[in-house]
Amino acid sequence: MEKQRVVYLDNAATTPITNEAYREMIDAYGKIYGNASSLYKAGRDADEMLAAARAKVAKAIGASPSEIYFTSGGSESNNWAIKGIARANRNKGNHIITSTIEHPSVLESCKALEKEGFKITYIPVDEMGLIKYSEIVKAIGPDTILISIMSANNEVGTIQPIKAIAELAKANDVIFHTDAVQAIGAIDFDVKDIGISALSLSAHKFGGPKGVGALYVKKGVKIESLINGGNQERGKRAGTENVPAIVGMGRAIEDATSNIEENNKQLKSIRRYFLRQVSELIHNIELNGHPTQRLQNNISISFEGAEGEAILMMLDREGVYVSTGSACASGSLEPSHVLLAMGKDVETAASTVRFTLGNSTTKEDVDYALGKLKKIVKKLRSISAIRIYKNKVEL
Ligand SMILES: Cc1ncc(COP(=O)(O)O)c(C=O)c1O
Repeated sequence: MEKQRVVYLDNAATTPITNEAYREMIDAYGKIYGNASSLYKAGRDADEMLAAARAKVAKAIGASPSEIYFTSGGSESNNWAIKGIARANRNKGNHIITSTIEHPSVLESCKALEKEGFKITYIPVDEMGLIKYSEIVKAIGPDTILISIMSANNEVGTIQPIKAIAELAKANDVIFHTDAVQAIGAIDFDVKDIGISALSLSAHKFGGPKGVGALYVKKGVKIESLINGGNQERGKRAGTENVPAIVGMGRAIEDATSNIEENNKQLKSIRRYFLRQVSELIHNIELNGHPTQRLQNNISISFEGAEGEAILMMLDREGVYVSTGSACASGSLEPSHVLLAMGKDVETAASTVRFTLGNSTTKEDVDYALGKLKKIVKKLRSISAIRIYKNKVEL
């Protein structure tokens, strides 16, 4: 039997590990067995690898190594940044500003803080998913201690004006945190230049291993310890470090951030090709997100009269992997909070599919995926109840 072609178009959910990161990680697994806190050579070797990886992560975002804390990934970094900064700065105020389209790890952390008496303002977005900056200006008050706005949205790819928000925060003596999980490798981060006080990142979104990430916390910003115990991560997050995974992350971030311009150019060209082909092959579709201020790997499309979840499952049978909304929301029948926040109706949100390209996605991959997609959408529309009720969807 001929092997089925696989086209992976869900790089926002996770990226395959790069060969280079994999090799360095496996090498570390084989060679490094010491505990990085032990004083003898095997321990010192592990500690050296940790320090080298920390320096790479720091360099990639323009931070100092002493401002980087290793974590288990984006969700942990976001939870720690928001709860840890809020609680440590409570003496200054109890008001936090975030947006309606943040990742659940930000929104749920804010909800948890509401139960502790913090007041949260959720800033709305426009129909392109852009944060309403003027609403942040209005929301800032004497009790505001933290603003947390994502750098780029994981569902529709809209990039937020984080420099302007960081400047606003600074002018009001407010700490600014950004969830940069989707933006590392796509935006050139210089935390000092932009004025970011805390930043979350996750290795498996830029070619590193899963289950490892980092939180940057600017020197002088107060944050509670996340895990009490030993002195690892300068006493802020105790527990023996996963050195090989951290080594893999170090290599991946170095590669992802040293070629941003070239990678974006390549992605932009494939994205343009995808959009041209899809609009020729399938009618009555709606493209979501900002047309220009956006991640080049993200294509979010609503297919009127066809259910996103059904498209996903039928594409899966053809070896094409995509997602509806975000990976963490899959399995839930709730419509995407991001699309609803952008003013889409429930039907449109339910008919949305997210395709996220990778550095190795080719035009042939796009042709294969779109060939299958065209047939699937046609089939679904022909049996769709929406078509009967609306009686207007062209096949
Ligand atoms: C914007 C954003 N923030 C945070 C996360 C969570 O990252 P992790 O999977 O490493 O916990 C994700 C993952 O999808 C994300 O897209």
